[in-house]
Amino acid sequence: MDVLRVEGSAPLRGIVQAGGAKNAALPIFAACLLTAEECTIENVPDLSDLRFMAEILRALGASATRSAPGVWKIRAEQIGHVAPYELVRKMRASICVLGPLVARQRCARVSMPGGCVIGQRPIDLHLKGLARLGCKIGIHGGYVDVDASELRGNYVFLGGRQGPTVTGTANIVMAAVLTPGVTRIESAACEPEVADLCDMLVKMGAKIEGIGSHYLKITGVEGLHGCTHRILPDRIEAGTLLIAGAITGGDVTVENVVPGHMRALIDKLEECGVACECDPEGQSIRVVGGGPRRPVDIVTLPHPGFPTDLQAQMCALMALTPGLSIITERIYPNRFMHVPELARMGADIAIEGPSAIIHGGAALSGAPVMASDLRASAALVLAGLAAEGETWIQRIYHLDRGYERLDAKLRALGGNIERLPVEAMPVSYIDE
Ligand code: EPU
Repeated sequence: MDVLRVEGSAPLRGIVQAGGAKNAALPIFAACLLTAEECTIENVPDLSDLRFMAEILRALGASATRSAPGVWKIRAEQIGHVAPYELVRKMRASICVLGPLVARQRCARVSMPGGCVIGQRPIDLHLKGLARLGCKIGIHGGYVDVDASELRGNYVFLGGRQGPTVTGTANIVMAAVLTPGVTRIESAACEPEVADLCDMLVKMGAKIEGIGSHYLKITGVEGLHGCTHRILPDRIEAGTLLIAGAITGGDVTVENVVPGHMRALIDKLEECGVACECDPEGQSIRVVGGGPRRPVDIVTLPHPGFPTDLQAQMCALMALTPGLSIITERIYPNRFMHVPELARMGADIAIEGPSAIIHGGAALSGAPVMASDLRASAALVLAGLAAEGETWIQRIYHLDRGYERLDAKLRALGGNIERLPVEAMPVSYIDE
């Protein structure tokens, strides 16, 4: 098992590329189940979560191969309908196969994904949506059993207590594209990753109107065909790299981004005193830190609000920004596992309900810390880059689920970060 050793670094400087978006690629891989023809997916990041989704597709009978760096060929000529617990429990996003199985096979048996460290993460809205399309749903032995023999288009409302559901919208859209009649989804998630999935489905022959909005109209078609699709840039990876530039007071340009997908982050960085420039062509964002920073208040919200997937990284930035910042989590009210670890590095953060109250400005000092989930891991890396001394981060398999070579990208910008075997770590730090 590897660990990361991060040392307080000089300001990061340079240009770095964002990769393809994990959270678009995951449902897009699942969408390949909707046709017997081959789909070619480009700009796929090399991540353990995607290799795992490929494994699930193979378990369902599809072939999924990486034909070149970033390019996957997926063909689901003949498939089954069962996604077993052993696979689904390892990654929540496996639930994205539910919609395609319902649409293509007219029946599905998929293990319930269960909760995870960032919260409960129910799938009631996915199931409610399928029921509205005429599915008969039962839950037996930890599995969702769906009989979709009488699918028909209908109105579906997907708003929940925390707003629309991202993978729930993906599932209902994927089910509806092959459902006879018209399906109207209200309070659909309008995250760019959902729009990217819809764009791919349209290339496959689906009829979808309102892409990128909270209202989707889907007219069912008889069949879909293969296509080639390029995954959109990862706004969360790009945002993490921009915050890395800001937290070290550096000058970092991230290329291969869509600034229009990142307005909430840009707005908060500017409010904090970090200069942001989007290039006229709209393909890159540059941050210049180093000036005085101001505290900010942030509330995470569905897109186009501030993304929960950048909340932990902003906590690290605000911990180093003098003054009182309050970050409120409206998507996953308990998503604060990074806070105790940041506190071990000297951050002054108190959790009050769904809010982190951050008395920023204290210098951080390197410490051995534990990664607990993907974005929390990224926050620890960023804090380590801005701390005095050495930070050792264990359980970095969380980081590798969603960031392709984050350590190498940061090193290329001048970050003092290396990936080492766990044996290289001081023995007293090793978690048994
Ligand atoms: N929710 C329900 N019922 C449901 C579904 C969701 O109450 O049936 C609640 C959730 O508990 C949560 C909120 O609605 O409070 C939003 O959940 P959503 O379903 O939108 O999340 P998700 O689809 O499971 C995706 C991303 C997450 C990201 C969230 C929010 C993928 C594979 N995952 O999850 O990404 O945080 O949307 O934007 O797309 C990450 O990349 O680190 C990550 C966790």
